[in-house]
Amino acid sequence: MALSFDFTNMMAGALPHGAGITAAQWQGASADFARAHAAVHARVHDLGFLTLATNTPLLESSLAVAAGARGRFDDVLLLGIGGSALGPIALRTALCPPRWNELPPAQREGHPRLHVLDNVDPATIGATLSRLDLARTLVLVVSKSGGTVETMAQYLIVREALAQAVGEEAAKGHLVLVTDPQVGALRRIAREEGIAAVEIPPNVGGRFSVLSPVGILPAALVGIDVRALLAGAAYVTEQAQTAELGRNLPGAFAVLQWLADTCHGRRIQVLMPYADPLRDLALWFVQLWAESLGKIRADGASVGPTPLPALGATDQHSQVQLFMEGPLDKTVTFIAVKGREADGRIPARHADIPELGYLGGHSLGELIDIEQRATAGALAARGRLNATLAIDTVDAWHLGALMQLFALATAYAGELYGVNAFDQPGVELGKQFAYAMLGRAGSETARAEWDALPLPDPRWRM
Ligand code: PA5
Repeated sequence: MALSFDFTNMMAGALPHGAGITAAQWQGASADFARAHAAVHARVHDLGFLTLATNTPLLESSLAVAAGARGRFDDVLLLGIGGSALGPIALRTALCPPRWNELPPAQREGHPRLHVLDNVDPATIGATLSRLDLARTLVLVVSKSGGTVETMAQYLIVREALAQAVGEEAAKGHLVLVTDPQVGALRRIAREEGIAAVEIPPNVGGRFSVLSPVGILPAALVGIDVRALLAGAAYVTEQAQTAELGRNLPGAFAVLQWLADTCHGRRIQVLMPYADPLRDLALWFVQLWAESLGKIRADGASVGPTPLPALGATDQHSQVQLFMEGPLDKTVTFIAVKGREADGRIPARHADIPELGYLGGHSLGELIDIEQRATAGALAARGRLNATLAIDTVDAWHLGALMQLFALATAYAGELYGVNAFDQPGVELGKQFAYAMLGRAGSETARAEWDALPLPDPRWRM
């Protein structure tokens, strides 16, 4: 079980045309990193994500709910958005067998299907509800704040549907509320109606919460090895205790992306796994990196890299053209997988046809790995910065390790950029405008600002 990180192709020397981070820049950043490291690890008591992997009582709280639900439900429906949904989606895609929700019960070993509503699009919600037998469905309502508009709307719709399907009283037994232990509407509902609830520690924010019951509870319900997930995260946290840049993998990732952005204008940062199960990990990373780092700094400067998800080899027929020849404003971090569980040998048919004959005898795993190495080499040959994170295999341990690596890197990057990685003030105004239009009490100031906005100008409408 191991993670490795090869960043040769980020560095000057390996790349042509004088591209790349210089050894002097890298060495100069070790003091910046030491400061960032000290600042993050000094906050171990208020950055709860640092200790989630070793929080046994919290793990037990999810395991108890999962054990109680065992055999009673065919489907789990998770309501949430943002950090309360992207982590569970990434875990399902990576760690459940492919097409999990389509498998017959025997192949799921009696575990339920898992559906995640990460939006309020009526078409998706309607279609999902129409396909579920609510009498056999467990609904997880996941919201740290306990009042997010989209999640509350999902909850109201689903609670009503549950009540109609099984009756008001029985509906309560189909709900588990995953939320803050003290505050918020969900906690109040749990308290007043005696509905089961599991806590998200107060010092764990949405996008840093995947290893809390936000991700652990749904993962345990579908049979993912959650102990291994946490063990991978604990390993990375332990390894990251050192402030020495050359030995701290999350630190190296953060520093390289920060230097690439601030010294070399590489402000678009691509995460490109070469494995279908990691497709949604890239989307989870995008939220983490973007919502944490895109900020107005105290001096008024707008800073932050722009993360971009990609998938190998699929994107070799799409975005890679842009990565190879578009503006010199990107880094690409590949995730390579050394061992693939189900690897199929390509049959040696049509040996006489040049476009097919050379493939016979190779395996699909070999093909996708060679394509990753070829793309990394091609980018480097054209002066395009890239790095490769390699994992032994896609399993719970390595996923936990990767998620903690990116969470730590985000915290360090927040310090390097000089921003608070743990808030999201920029999403507030749009939220307030929406509240104002929906008539929520307390949104009068937003209503006034909304009403003062210029009306659509007929010259600029079609
Ligand atoms: O990372 C964050 O804090 C956000 O993306 C939240 O996860 C998102 O807004 C949902 O919030 P909540 O879990 O409070 O419903």
